[in-house]
Amino acid sequence: MKSFYLETFGCQMNVHDSEKVIGTLLERGYRQTEDAGEASLVLYNTCSIRDKAEQKVFNKLQQHKRHGKEQVIGVLGCVAQQEGEKIFERAPYVSLVVGSASYTKLPELLVQIEQGNRRVTGLSLDTDETFDTPLTRRDNPYRAFLTIIEGCDKNCAYCVVPFTRGPERSRAAQGVLDEVKQLAAAGYTEIMLLGQNVNSYLDPSPRGWNFARLLREVGQVEGIRRVRFTTSHPRDFTKEIIDAIDDVPALCNHVHLPVQSGSSKVLEAMQRQYTREQYLERIGWMKNARRKISITTDIIVGFPGETEADFQETVRLLDEVEYDGLFSFKYSQRPNTPALRFDDHVPEEEKGRRLLQLLEHQRTILVRNNAGYVGETEQVHTEHFNAATGQWVGKTTQHKTVNFTHPQGPEAAIEGRYLDVLVTRSGVASLAGEAIVM
Ligand code: SAH
Ligand code: SF4
Ligand code: F3S
Repeated sequence: MKSFYLETFGCQMNVHDSEKVIGTLLERGYRQTEDAGEASLVLYNTCSIRDKAEQKVFNKLQQHKRHGKEQVIGVLGCVAQQEGEKIFERAPYVSLVVGSASYTKLPELLVQIEQGNRRVTGLSLDTDETFDTPLTRRDNPYRAFLTIIEGCDKNCAYCVVPFTRGPERSRAAQGVLDEVKQLAAAGYTEIMLLGQNVNSYLDPSPRGWNFARLLREVGQVEGIRRVRFTTSHPRDFTKEIIDAIDDVPALCNHVHLPVQSGSSKVLEAMQRQYTREQYLERIGWMKNARRKISITTDIIVGFPGETEADFQETVRLLDEVEYDGLFSFKYSQRPNTPALRFDDHVPEEEKGRRLLQLLEHQRTILVRNNAGYVGETEQVHTEHFNAATGQWVGKTTQHKTVNFTHPQGPEAAIEGRYLDVLVTRSGVASLAGEAIVM
């Protein structure tokens, strides 16, 4: 019997694409295996966002040299799109290279592979399609990922995504709503809407809903208790989105709004299309909302031309916004991107120093923010029991992790349930508490 092994790198979009690819393969009679050595088809769904991510993929591929058995090796995702047929030269034992914009063609490409074709590619970015499939095999039974927009039209100077995922394509709102209703009927209560820039969502049907409208509609589907979305681009982030969160209870109190830098000069060089002041205006909308919205962000340190003074503006921004979470990265040079041509590169060592300083600074903010929840009762969507700590683990609407005890301990069988938890302690990365059981 045909079997496949699939390993996924990168962002939630990739994780969800893999769920769709798995469904497509199962439909074609493949069986999934956790053992790469045993599989007849080995797939890597890859990420190219930073150089390290790309290196990881080639290291993986290198391991297959030793196998030498009858096995088809395929590269999917962002490295596939970026490197294309060059992958065949760097890793001659690879026979399938497919970018995410060609996944609708996967069934045909698989037929070519099954017929023994040893160099099969799907690399066209020339598409207005999105990869929608009823075959998706979701990994989590309570929280479902759902793509609403693919690709990106933003062209930030450092970023490969416009090259690896192609132009923006929105999925029809009716299709999205139908899928959300099916998910609710199947017992899902939490939906995560996905896109590289969900804020520029535009329903291609004559109805022409924007993102805020779609969000309201998804949030009102019966049975759906939580709706999250990622990622937001500040330029396209509207006050309407915050109004929707204020009005519709199922929309979560959390916005991930990547800023990348606190310096308007660096933002301009990055081609982010907003200033520090415009970004802070959006933060102001959230701070003035009726609901307590948690805010998280992404920051790149050491972009070409970033001076110590620019960097200190980013540090001060952390204090101003008081973020609830921070993902920070050292700038990494990427193929095809405009920033490759910039000079004035920041030395690696200096990038490392800035990254550490940023994280250290954020730590203090997190300790303070999290302490504010002690004594509060939070509704927690339970995920799993952690045997090592003897506690259950779940998330609040603000996307805070809560570790909590339950009188029935591991026997409580509360996976996927929403419980009220009294927060009794807080730390840097999480809260701790006790389930309130009536
Ligand atoms: N579409 C999302 C981000 C996708 S990539 C957005 O616009 O925010 C996730 C994060 O990786 C980015 O927010 C950025 O902080 C980081 N990143 C992207 N390219 C990078 C690069 N060349 N070097 C370092 N970090 C990078
Ligand atoms: Fe990359 Fe910018 Fe598009 Fe985000 S908005 S995916 S950072 S180009
Ligand atoms: Fe990586 Fe591609 Fe996502 S580059 S971050 S997998 S869009």
